[in-house]
Amino acid sequence: MPTQKILLTRRWPTEVEHYLSQRYDVTVNEHDTVLDPDALKAALRSYDAICPTVTDKLPAEVLQAGAGKVKILGNYGVGVSHIDLQACKRLGIAVTNTPDVLTDATAEIAIMLMLMAARRGGEGERQVRAHEWNGWAPTRLIGANVTGQTLGLVGFGRIGQATAQKAHHGFGMRILYHSRNRATPAVEALTGASYCHSLEELLETSDFVSVHCPGGAASRHLLDAKRLDRMKRSAFLVNTARGEVVDEAALAEALRNRVIAGAGLDVYEHEPRVLEAFMDLENVVLLPHLGSATLATRVAMGMRVAENLERFFAGLEPRDTVA
Ligand code: DGY
Repeated sequence: MPTQKILLTRRWPTEVEHYLSQRYDVTVNEHDTVLDPDALKAALRSYDAICPTVTDKLPAEVLQAGAGKVKILGNYGVGVSHIDLQACKRLGIAVTNTPDVLTDATAEIAIMLMLMAARRGGEGERQVRAHEWNGWAPTRLIGANVTGQTLGLVGFGRIGQATAQKAHHGFGMRILYHSRNRATPAVEALTGASYCHSLEELLETSDFVSVHCPGGAASRHLLDAKRLDRMKRSAFLVNTARGEVVDEAALAEALRNRVIAGAGLDVYEHEPRVLEAFMDLENVVLLPHLGSATLATRVAMGMRVAENLERFFAGLEPRDTVA
């Protein structure tokens, strides 16, 4: 009989729910609704493991109030800025995430946003659906080239590197990156990327800027009005990382005043709320946090959580420990 009590805070692909249910005493949030702080506190007191997602806010206050039974948070996702890792360390709660398995899926969305923003994909589709398209014309819906342009990556972890590879080898783009640590020469060679010592220099030189750094307090509003102003007026900003990295109000202003040409967003500061100021701007593409949303990826994420739990409950170090 399974002994450990596990909570999945949302519905997961059937295959993974089934896999876990055969091994543990699993509770699934059948309604698939977002749990509020009280429900999360109660869960922390009742389960050995909780498997949260980006929609579960776990600040110090919630963790402290609920801590008691829970031993591990097996996060379903790579980003963990919704969990206070310091508080988890203090409270002796282990935290794991799911890197690697969603790298390509997320990089695909970054490339898609670059293409959609530059080639006015969203705007064109809106015209067709509204019966407003009246035929091909030499001067309408004119976009910008992607092939051969310069892509600047803010952050150069797995997803940034995969985006670089696809952009460099697929579209012949010149790749620049800025990150805390410089990558090895081997990684730079594989991705065709050159290190930029200053973020400002990257912003000034790039035709596309794509955000790939972790979210959280350290990177909050890294791209603010001043930094957006450093970008070329013809440039596009893409964000598939975390909403808080970009000052959304400043971005909306910059888009409205054509300080930059356009943007493509998959993530937002206050999800699922999307800034109203974006809604009537044609030069921003708005996606609903689709980064990892393929079936194969979502199954692989679940299996990665399962692997982390298995090692943890066997007394071994989980593969993806982040706290
Ligand atoms: C991730 O894995 O970080 C995705 O954004 C969902 O949380």
